[in-house]
Formats: sequence, structure tokens, C-alpha cells
Amino acid sequence: MLIIRTVAELRAHVRGLRAKGHIIGLVPTMGALHDGHVSLIAASSLRATSTIVSLFVNPRQFGDASDLAGYPRTEEDDAARAQAAGAAVLFAPSVGEVYPDGYSAEVRISGPLTERLEGAHRGPEHFHGVTTVVTKLLNMVAPDVVFFGAKDAQQVLVVRRLVRDLNLPVDVVALPTVREADGLALSSRNVRLSSADRRRAVAIPRAIAAVVEAYRAGELDVPALTARATAVLADAGLTAEYVAIADPATLEPRAVVDGPALLALAVPVGPVRLIDNTLLSPVLADSPVPALSGAGRTGGYVQQVPQSPEKG
Ligand code: PAF
Repeated sequence: MLIIRTVAELRAHVRGLRAKGHIIGLVPTMGALHDGHVSLIAASSLRATSTIVSLFVNPRQFGDASDLAGYPRTEEDDAARAQAAGAAVLFAPSVGEVYPDGYSAEVRISGPLTERLEGAHRGPEHFHGVTTVVTKLLNMVAPDVVFFGAKDAQQVLVVRRLVRDLNLPVDVVALPTVREADGLALSSRNVRLSSADRRRAVAIPRAIAAVVEAYRAGELDVPALTARATAVLADAGLTAEYVAIADPATLEPRAVVDGPALLALAVPVGPVRLIDNTLLSPVLADSPVPALSGAGRTGGYVQQVPQSPEKG
């Protein structure tokens, strides 16, 4: 596995790949790789001929200093996992390489997409930090295709808007959330859960399952549906920061689920804050609950993947 730390070295490497006709896939990560990341790298290895994994814990997207300080850093393991999953390069720049002294640029998507849900709770600066670093990574690597996990459905929407609004020549692919056997969505933050908190965290997929079950039984009223989730969480001693049912494209809050809707929630569990989501859709209403049963089973919301016009 080639580990690259500077933009100059990365560009030289990518030039070499391009000269040989490679199709380049980028999997942006903040490290602590888990099977969700592995699924993105594996998908990239199928679609691209060379996969670059970036590992950068981006300080600009953390509002909470303790979350940044406690974020797991496991570069050696990450390099081994990325290589085993099919990546050729780990791009792991320092903070100074990405944000040199005097750095002052910011790329932001303004408006409801970054102000709702996570934006309302973590502050829109969170997404400004994400769109800034994603733009920089796309400029540094210049990949043909970039991969994201659907666990952060709002991030996928924001990145798609970024790519559309700035005409960035890259295809954005979102892949389903990967879950533990008991339904908990994989997250780099899960390693910070104590065993008691880990047991309580399973209430999150159970809360989702309770909403899905009620929806399938014909309940369409949003306050009644979200109350199901809140009750399951309360039984486990958890209080959500939010349980929201919103338009899956605009994130506008819904009062009634009269079409496909995104169910999204954020729940503090011990020292971390976990997010999860699923799509409530009349089309899926008769199919088995995706994802909430079985290790490695996937689920959660995945938007259809439009090809960017620039890439044809
Ligand atoms: O999803 C993440 O891990 C991060 O938000 C990303 C996309 C790597 C940007 O820092």
C-alpha cells in the first residue's frame, strides 16, 4: 500500500495513473475504517481501475472540540483494511498540508439543505467544513467517481448539490448503510461506546424499525410516527436530539407521509452522537424491513445516483 502525505506527490502519482488510462475512484474517510468503508472501497474497486482512500480528520467539520479530540485515529489498521479491500493508495495528509498557514477559503452550500437536521443541531458550519474539504479532496485527486455511505443521507444530498452547483466533473455514488448483526449502523464512533452504551445503542435501529412497522400498518401522521421512535429510545434511557421525517430531496419537514420520506435521527449515546436513517416509501411498504436483521446487511436511505453531465 502506497501512503502519500503531500498534494504534490499525490498529483504526480495521479498523473502517472492517468497516463496509463486508469479510471480513478476516491473514497474520502476520516479513518477508523469499518465494514461500511470497506463496502465503499470494494465498490470503487469494481467501478474504477485504481482506488485512492483519503484519511483526513477534518477539523473544520467538528463543532465540538471533544468530539475532534476523541475521534479514533488508527492509521496503520486503516492502511491494511483499505489495501485488503482493494485500494492502491492511502492519501493521509497533515492538517497543515490541507490548510496551510493563512488558509482562508471556504466552499459552502447555503440554504435549507445545510440548515436542516444536522445543520440545525451541529450548525451549518459542519456542512461548510464538509463541502470545503470534499472540494479540496476532489481538486487534489481529480477522481472519476467518489463514494459515500448513505448513513449520512444529508451529507450525500449536500455533496450532490455541491457537485451539481459547481459543475465538478465527478460521479457521486452513495451506498447503503452497513449494520451490525443487531441492526446498529457501523460508525467510526461506535468504538467509543462502553459495553453498556453499546447495548443501549441498539435502541436506535429498533426505533427505526418501530416507525417502519407503524408506517407499514398504515400510520401516516408524522407526530404519531416519531412518537414511536421516541418511546423506543426512552425505554433504553436515550433521548434523541431529533427524530425527523422529511422530504428526501429537500429535507423539508413533513406532517404526513404521503410520499417517499426520509426518517432521520440523531441520538447522543454516552460520549458520542450517533445518526441513522431509512427511507419510508410506499414502494417498500410491503417488502421486509431492510437492514435491521443480520450482520453486514445493508439498509438506510440511498438516493438514486444520477451521472454528472460532465462525465456523460
Ligand atoms: O463522512 C465522512 O467521513 C466525512 O464527512 C468526509 C466525507 C470524509 C469529509 O471529511
